[in-house]
Amino acid sequence: MSEPSKLPSAIDLGHKLDLFDKQWTPHRIATFDQHQLVLAKVQGEFVWHDHADHDEVFLPVNGTLWIDFEGGESVELGPGQVLVVPAGVAHRPRTRPEEEVQLLIIDPLTVQHTGAMDSDRTVQDYPTI
Ligand code: NI
Repeated sequence: MSEPSKLPSAIDLGHKLDLFDKQWTPHRIATFDQHQLVLAKVQGEFVWHDHADHDEVFLPVNGTLWIDFEGGESVELGPGQVLVVPAGVAHRPRTRPEEEVQLLIIDPLTVQHTGAMDSDRTVQDYPTI
């Protein structure tokens, strides 16, 4: 065991969320072990996609998020609830039309939020905040 040369600092999600308004744009707030913690503000329906080789973690900070799966099944997530979407499984994040949802996503650094789909929603380089 080695001691950190500098103590890590707590990341305040509320403060980070105050730093941007643009919806459907992932913002990187931390990295670890080739993974990234990403904050996003979303409203409405995202595009259907999958991530062939990587699981993806969703955790709403505010609001209610649904993750839709093929076949008409959905998982509802509120603040403090977390879902791991397995690699290769098609999914579509969705909110109530009138409600913006703020959420934390955990992905490998190499993962695109729209999977292999190149959509008008695709953000190539996530801003770091
Ligand atoms: Ni995804």
